Amino acid sequence: MAEAAMGGNLEHARGRGEGSDVSTISAAEPAGVGLRFEVDGEIATVTLDRPDKRNAQTFAMWSALARIGETLPEQVRVVVVKGEGPSFSAGIDLRMFTPEGVPGQESFASAATLGDTEFEQRIAEAQKGFLWLRRPEIVSIAAVQGHAIGAGFQLALACDLRVVADDVKFCMKEPALGLVPDLTGTKPLADIVGVPRAIEMCLTARTVGAAEAVRLGLAEIAVPTSELAQAVQDLAAALLATDRAAAAATKRLLQAAPGRTLEEQAAAERVEQVARIRALFGAS
Ligand code: ACO
Repeated sequence: MAEAAMGGNLEHARGRGEGSDVSTISAAEPAGVGLRFEVDGEIATVTLDRPDKRNAQTFAMWSALARIGETLPEQVRVVVVKGEGPSFSAGIDLRMFTPEGVPGQESFASAATLGDTEFEQRIAEAQKGFLWLRRPEIVSIAAVQGHAIGAGFQLALACDLRVVADDVKFCMKEPALGLVPDLTGTKPLADIVGVPRAIEMCLTARTVGAAEAVRLGLAEIAVPTSELAQAVQDLAAALLATDRAAAAATKRLLQAAPGRTLEEQAAAERVEQVARIRALFGAS
């Protein structure tokens, strides 16, 4: 499915070791998949690159995202996800709702004729493009300016952290279109803002701006648009200053904390700390 959605034409030049190597990912057709991927040392940057279409997302883009996750060079510790142009992403490419769909890709009209299992498998393939951003070994940062609608909001929510420009406009539009948010966004949204606020936000499809996003914890910081790139760079540098193994172990603990009792979490802390201290002091 992934290769088919890519038109079978993914060229992926991997990183070539340590230092400031640069990797690129591109697809020759149809007109690329609208993504750029670069690796510079321990920082990888994924750029949604269809600014003329406000970075509208397609199955091919989600497949390419999944492939980036599968082939992420081992040295990468921070992944920045950003959008070219005035908007982070205006969500799903609305052509997917038309009978013709996006050229070379399956439309919803044809997908609707599939059996439940096969159809859910298609959605699972799309979700793969988002899920890898939560891996403990990396910290993902969404740099969000302008509109982040539907799939755009969900991509930002798929990241661990969100740095936003003061013109950001988050909107979960799926219910207004007769759909549910299904690109892994409902859990982080409910976890961050709480179920009542998430219901209100999704079912009214209202827009959430920068000040409210910071207040609700949907964004770590809001800055003027001209300072967005620098703010992300500063955050990445601060994250990279922390020991790699300690960062991954701490992220593992924090991610699991909401699903555990205090006693379970205390036990998990002990396990991680024993491993850390043994690693630091050389005993095994
Ligand atoms: N899918 C396909 N094309 C899009 C999309 C989209 N989601 N969003 C914008 N575009 C295209 C427009 O058709 C237009 O193309 P054109 O220049 O060929 O006419 C171009 O991008 C620029 O769009 P404008 O509307 O002119 O840009 P503007 O900055 O004024 O508005 C906005 C941006 C508010 C994001 C508007 O484009 C919009 O409402 N888009 C649709 C949003 C949407 O409903 N997304 C689906 C959410 S649900 C989900 O993701 C599952």
